[in-house]
This record gives sequence, C-alpha cells and structure tokens, in this order.
Amino acid sequence: MSTYSQFFLLSFIAIWLISLTTFGANTIHPDEKEALEDIAKSLGKKDWNFDIDPCSNKPNWVTPPIPKIIDNNVTCNCTVAGDNFCHVVIICLKGQNLPGTLPPELNRLRYLQTIKLSGNRLTGSIPVETANISTLRCIELTGNQMSGNLPPELGSLTQLQTLRISSNNFSGELPVTLANLTTLKDFRIEDNQFSGKIPNYIQNWTSINTLLIQGSGLSGPIPSGISLLTKLVDLYEN
Ligand SMILES: *[C@@H]1O[C@H](CO)[C@@H](O)[C@H](O)[C@H]1NC(C)=O
Ligand SMILES: *[C@@H]1O[C@H](CO)[C@@H](O)[C@H](O)[C@H]1NC(C)=O
Ligand SMILES: *[C@@H]1O[C@H](CO)[C@@H](O)[C@H](O)[C@H]1NC(C)=O
Ligand SMILES: *[C@@H]1O[C@H](CO)[C@@H](O)[C@H](O)[C@H]1NC(C)=O
Ligand SMILES: *[C@@H]1O[C@H](CO)[C@@H](O)[C@H](O)[C@H]1NC(C)=O
Ligand SMILES: *[C@@H]1O[C@H](CO)[C@@H](O)[C@H](O)[C@H]1NC(C)=O
Repeated sequence: MSTYSQFFLLSFIAIWLISLTTFGANTIHPDEKEALEDIAKSLGKKDWNFDIDPCSNKPNWVTPPIPKIIDNNVTCNCTVAGDNFCHVVIICLKGQNLPGTLPPELNRLRYLQTIKLSGNRLTGSIPVETANISTLRCIELTGNQMSGNLPPELGSLTQLQTLRISSNNFSGELPVTLANLTTLKDFRIEDNQFSGKIPNYIQNWTSINTLLIQGSGLSGPIPSGISLLTKLVDLYEN
C-alpha cells in the first residue's frame, strides 16, 4: 500500500469513528425528541428541560419524584431499533396535576410500550391515534378528568396487557372491538359513566387476572362465561 492510500484509509477510519460518537449511539432519535416536546406541550408539562437528552438518564425536570405519589421518568431502549439511536419505551408522569390532554403525538414514539399518566388533571378523550401505537402494552390514566367514548380502534392494540382508566368520566358503551384484546391481564374501569351491559365478550379475555368494573356505569349480570376465566383473581362489579 502506498503512503497516500494508507493516509486516506486512516483518515477514513478516523472520520467514521468521530461520526459514530458524535451522531447516534445512545442519544435520543431526533424525531422522538421533537415528538416529546409536542407531547410536553399537550400535557401541560412545563418543567421539562429539553437541553438535556431525555434518554440520558439525567434528571431533566424541576419536579422531584416522591415515591408512590409523583413518578417522573422516561425510559429509553438504545438497541430496540438497531439504528444507533435511543427510543422511548416508557413514559411515566404520575401525580403531577398536569392540566392538558392526552397527546395524539404519542404515536410518533414508534416503540412506546407503556404510558402512565395517572393522578393528573387531564381532560378530553382518548385520541384515536393512540390505537396506532402497535407496541403498546400498558395504558394507565387512573384519576384524571377524561371523558368521551373509548375509540373502537383500541381493539387493534393486540399486545395490550393493562388498561387502567378508573376514576374518570368516560361514557358510552364499551366498543365491541375490545373483544379482540385477548392479551389483557388487568382491566380497570371503576368510577366512570359508561352505559350498557357488562359485555359477554369478556369471556374471551383468557389471560385476565384483574377485572375491576365497580361503579363504572355498566349494569349486570356478570356473564356466566366468566367461569372460563381461570386466571381471574380480582373481580369487583356493581
Ligand atoms: C420510573 O417509572 C417506573 C414505572 O415505570 C417506576 O416504577 C419508578 O419508580 C420510576 N422511577 C423514578 C425515579 O421515578
Ligand atoms: C431493548 O430492546 C431489545 C429488543 O426488543 C430487547 O431485547 C432488550 O431487552 C431491551 N432492553 C431493555 C433494557 O429493555
Ligand atoms: C399509524 O399512523 C401512520 C401515520 O399516520 C400510518 O402511516 C400508519 O399506517 C398507521 N398505522 C396503523 C397501524 O394504523
Ligand atoms: C361527566 O360527563 C357527563 C356527560 O357524559 C357530564 O354531564 C358531567 O358533567 C361530567 N362530569 C364531570 C365531573 O366532568
Ligand atoms: C377482531 O379482529 C379481527 C382481525 O383483525 C377482525 O376481523 C374482527 O372483526 C375483530 N373483531 C371485533 C369484534 O372487532
Ligand atoms: C370470542 O371467542 C369465541 C371463541 O373463540 C369466538 O367464537 C367469538 O367470536 C369471540 N367473540 C368476539 C366478540 O370476538
């Protein structure tokens, strides 16, 4: 090899190494950073400092966590997409009196598995875009001021295991599409304004272990098919 080609080869390797450390590799994907800024606006979360990488594991808000009351964290996975970027998998902002609405922009987090926003003052309905996040396993919105019907599209969340929406003001009948949520383990809708009967299709939720429907507005009787749900340990109804 000539001195020239050695020089070019070494320069090439050096530039490649520098670009690896400068771009990608354990920083949040730029699209997701932008999405999080929009999400913070919709939620009404004002103390989020986006000068710090949300995937850096450094605290980037003013409100400190208080165990069991305030949870304030975002969890990322830096290998999930294989693209050298970190992607948000958990958003957990609980007990902060956030005054906004559930952001449709959550569907820009393409690897999101868990949304925990219990104990805030969120209003509005569940945006249909939520059903677009096919990776979702857990939605917790307990203790907010949300209303409206559940979008039928939620039935397409085929990995959903936890749906906790107790103590809100949701109304209407449960969409029949929820019959397809056969991976559900934990379903809590107490203290809402739903109408109609407890649906027969809950017998199709063969993985369910917790089913809380007390004061949800749904009327009995409990469908007899519930005896097929052998994993059920917690059941409360009207
Ligand atoms: C982060 O969120 C998880 C729930 O996903 C929670 O168990 C944990 O306590 C939280 N950590 C902090 C420091 O708030
Ligand atoms: C990140 O995602 C990959 C691929 O889904 C998974 O194997 C790995 O366990 C995840 N890492 C963490 C820390 O959750
Ligand atoms: C989710 O939304 C995106 C953008 O609007 C769209 O391209 C995609 O097809 C949707 N996916 C599902 C499963 O609806
Ligand atoms: C709940 O929703 C009903 C209509 O569905 C409305 O009349 C009522 O005022 C709402 N209650 C609260 C506390 O928002
Ligand atoms: C359940 O999902 C299947 C396949 O996507 C669909 O054909 C069917 O209509 C769904 N059932 C309900 C009750 O939505
Ligand atoms: C529930 O499961 C049964 C048996 O697998 C199926 O025949 C029925 O269509 C399902 N019901 C709904 C509403 O999807």
